[in-house]
Order: sequence, then C-alpha cells, then structure tokens
Amino acid sequence: MSNSPNAEPSEKPVAGDSLDEKEVTSGRYSHHVFICGHIRPKGSERECCTNSGSMDVLREMKTLVRQAGLEKVKIQKAGCLSNCGRGITCVVYPEGVWYSLSGNTDEIQKIISQHLQGGKPVRELYMEG
Ligand code: FES
Repeated sequence: MSNSPNAEPSEKPVAGDSLDEKEVTSGRYSHHVFICGHIRPKGSERECCTNSGSMDVLREMKTLVRQAGLEKVKIQKAGCLSNCGRGITCVVYPEGVWYSLSGNTDEIQKIISQHLQGGKPVRELYMEG
C-alpha cells in the first residue's frame, strides 16, 4: 500500500498486511479528519496552513458536521502534516485521503456530503502527489 498523499482510497492492503475495513471503522468514529493547524510567524520563509486560514476551515467543518448530525465524525486540529505550501492540508481516515483546500465553504460541504456522508472521496480536491 502506498504512503503517498494520492494513494487510491480503494487500494486494498495485501492480505495479512493490515487491519481489514471492519476493524478500522468499528471504533468510536466512522471518520477522523485532521486539519493542519501549524503556526509559523508571518514573514517566515516557509508557508503554513494557519496563515492560509486552516483554523477557519476547522471551525466551519466542525459546525457543518454538527449541523449534519454526523456524531461519529471527529474533526481535529493537527500539527504540521508535512505538506506545507500546498494549500490547507487535510487528511481523512480511515481511507487516508489527503486534500489540499483553499478554504472556501463549497469544498468543505463537498467533503462532508460526498465523502463523510456518501463514502466517495472528492477527487477534485485531492492533494497532488
Ligand atoms: S504547515 Fe500545514 S502541512 Fe505544514
């Protein structure tokens, strides 16, 4: 199984190599969403997601997920996810889908309705490899 940000979510692990889907999703949460909240000072040579508005995305996603009644979805702030400068970095487990977000509400709504509710990751928002 690839560790790249663009790994296909349908890619299955080799038998005996990993947990099966039921084991992965049978815990407290159906999905766990991490959004980078790393902070670098303004003027830093390297970009950071917080300066691109990642905390606004975090707040909005939490609000919309709560309004949608998705009690088994956990949205959480993460440290640097090592994809700095590639948009606001977001990763969704258990699929391990990496998104690069610009911060607009349409993107957040698509992730919620298509991925978290519909089970189909939003390919147009995938982070490029
Ligand atoms: S600062 Fe967000 S991925 Fe590094």
